[in-house]
Parts: sequence; C-alpha cells; structure tokens
Amino acid sequence: MRRKIIAGNWKMNKTANEAAALAQELAVHIKMNPHDRVETLIAPPFPFLQTCVRSVSEIPGFHVAAQNCHQEKSGAFTGEVSAAMLASLGVSHVIIGHSERRTFFGETNDILKAKLNAAIEQNLIPVFCVGETLEERNNHRQVLVIEEQLQHTVCQLDYAHLRQIVIAYEPVWAIGTGLTATPEQAQEMHVVIRSLISKSFGHGNAEIIPILYGGSCNPKNAASLFACEDVDGALIGGASLNANDFLSIRNAMISSLA
Ligand code: 13P
Repeated sequence: MRRKIIAGNWKMNKTANEAAALAQELAVHIKMNPHDRVETLIAPPFPFLQTCVRSVSEIPGFHVAAQNCHQEKSGAFTGEVSAAMLASLGVSHVIIGHSERRTFFGETNDILKAKLNAAIEQNLIPVFCVGETLEERNNHRQVLVIEEQLQHTVCQLDYAHLRQIVIAYEPVWAIGTGLTATPEQAQEMHVVIRSLISKSFGHGNAEIIPILYGGSCNPKNAASLFACEDVDGALIGGASLNANDFLSIRNAMISSLA
C-alpha cells in the first residue's frame, strides 16, 4: 500500500505570527487525530521554516517541506538557500519544479535535475512537480509534456534514490484558477506518470511512488479525487492557508481509506 500525503504549499503568504499560528493549530489537531497511513506536510516560506519545524516536532506523520532549494551546496549565490541548510533545520521535504518556479524563475529541466540530486544528497525527500499548460492540453500534448518533464529529471535518478521521491501532478491550468482536473483527468495523468516511472525503473518501483494531485483542490472536490486509485494525496495551495479547509481535505483522505 502506498503512503498517502496531504501537503500544503503556502507559497508567498503569511507573516511570521500568522504562520506560527497556523502551524500550531494544525499541530494540535494532528496530534489528537493521528493516522498511520496519512502523512501531512506543510511548506511555509523560508523565514518560517524553523518555527514550523518546532511545531511539528514529535508529531508522527507531520513534516515540514521547503518550497525550493538551490542546487549548489554553498557559495556566492546571494539570496539562495541550499539543501544542506534546510536539512540542518530539520526540514524533511522540498518541493522541486513547481510550475511557478519553472515559469517565473526560469527553472529548466537541467536545473531541476541538479536540484533533485542536491536534495537527495542531503536526505531530503523531493516533491517533484510536473504539469501541462492549458495550451498544451488543448493541443493534446499533455502526455508528451509530462514525459519530457520526467525524462530529463526523475528518470535520470539512481534506482536507489527514486524510492525516496514523491511526484505531484499539477496541471498549470488548474493552479489557483478554481478549475480542478476531473477525477477522470487526474487518474488518467497519474497512470501516465506511473507508467513512465515503470518504464524506467520497473513496475515494483513505480508502484511505491506516491503521486499527488495539485490544482484548486478543496474540501468539496477532495473526496472524488482521492477515490481515484492512483491519486495518493494532494498538493494544496489556496486551501492550505486555512486550517479548517486543509484539515477537512486531510479528513477526506482519511475517510477514503476507511
Ligand atoms: P491551488 O491549490 O491554489 O490551486 O495551488 C496548487 C499549487 O500550486 C500547489 O503547489
């Protein structure tokens, strides 16, 4: 059975006090309502990582992710944060390849491959994002696009390291738009991703990789997405900024396992 993951990507939101309060509210709930098959992740902005790590510490199944890392270990890269720095804070996961990083910060497949390796070297778990734009989908290119994004990055990893990663399918047209992929669209693309991993690393390895859905996931649509066999959780933006919404998505996952 694959592990299930509910992850909140806070993006560039919250002040220090707001971030601490949200992490604390989630920590209290998760401590009282643990689930041995559902991991919960929060990805706050860099300045709030340490506070959040303190909130989740000693709560089994609750972890902190960074939203990005630099590919180099250290050096003259003003404004950047290395994987080693994240690991030294007790951060356990890092989001790599989010479409906002690809689009606004010019992150190419080569850079993302280097970031994956940098994260893995520090024993961080990469949450690697892939997804097509609306134009690509309208031109029926979504499978080719995902293939391209994985072929040059995840598919280049060592066998041993593949087992360490999480993949998130985030169609760009669904991110922050209120448009969600239908469960059929999500399931179809998750199967595409799993088959690609299977081609490179074999069926057994592909079967253990959690594949999350991201893009306007909310308390209303979560249950239908989690009912899909290959949807192993969600990477949530807007709805992760509010404890009630985030926790009700987590509850939808727990109910789907009952
Ligand atoms: P929304 O849930 O706000 O659409 O964002 C999804 C996302 O980009 C998570 O990484």
